[in-house]
Amino acid sequence: MSKPRVAILISGRGSNMEGLIRAAQAQGYPAKIVLVLSNKEDAPGLDIARKLGVTAEAVSTKPFGKDREAHERMIDARLQAAGVEIVCLAGYMRLLTPYLVGRWAGRMLNIHPSLLPAYPGLDTHARALAAGEQKHGCTVHLVTEGMDEGPILAQAEVPILPGDTEAALAARVLAQEHILYPVALAALAEKIRLPEAAPRP
Ligand code: GRF
Repeated sequence: MSKPRVAILISGRGSNMEGLIRAAQAQGYPAKIVLVLSNKEDAPGLDIARKLGVTAEAVSTKPFGKDREAHERMIDARLQAAGVEIVCLAGYMRLLTPYLVGRWAGRMLNIHPSLLPAYPGLDTHARALAAGEQKHGCTVHLVTEGMDEGPILAQAEVPILPGDTEAALAARVLAQEHILYPVALAALAEKIRLPEAAPRP
């Protein structure tokens, strides 16, 4: 049975992207990473993807001005042309419109650096430290219209240690992200490959 074809959307360094690509290079992994797209032309992750043998392109937002949906139509055209079935957001720092979210409902994942529903949005590590939390972590969820609100697929916890800095905590969470995201993608890929129920005679 063929493996679902996956695209990764990034905006920056792409360490989660790299983790997904490397995981998918293992023979038994149930999904194939076929495309990386970035909204930033200078995203360091683009070169990392190319060095790992994955087609990687920037789709600049500049020609589209404030028309976010027009940019997303261009992204979607690239995804369709590459035969993509699952999209992974990995540090894609752009709010999505209902258009792209609707096109990929149930097939678009995001990784977020907190134990959702706690700390949606930015600066999650600093906010968890400031609140005196004892644990923190990361979440993989399906993307819906509300930011960081979609159904949770997987989470990993880390302790917050005495004297932790934001950087130390971020590094501890990131190490877990790199483990969690490939596992969550594999689970979704297996699920969408389940044979449809046979029609009743
Ligand atoms: C990660 O912390 C991820 O959880 C968040 O953005 C960051 C992206 O980092 N959504 P990288 O580009 O994968 O290194």
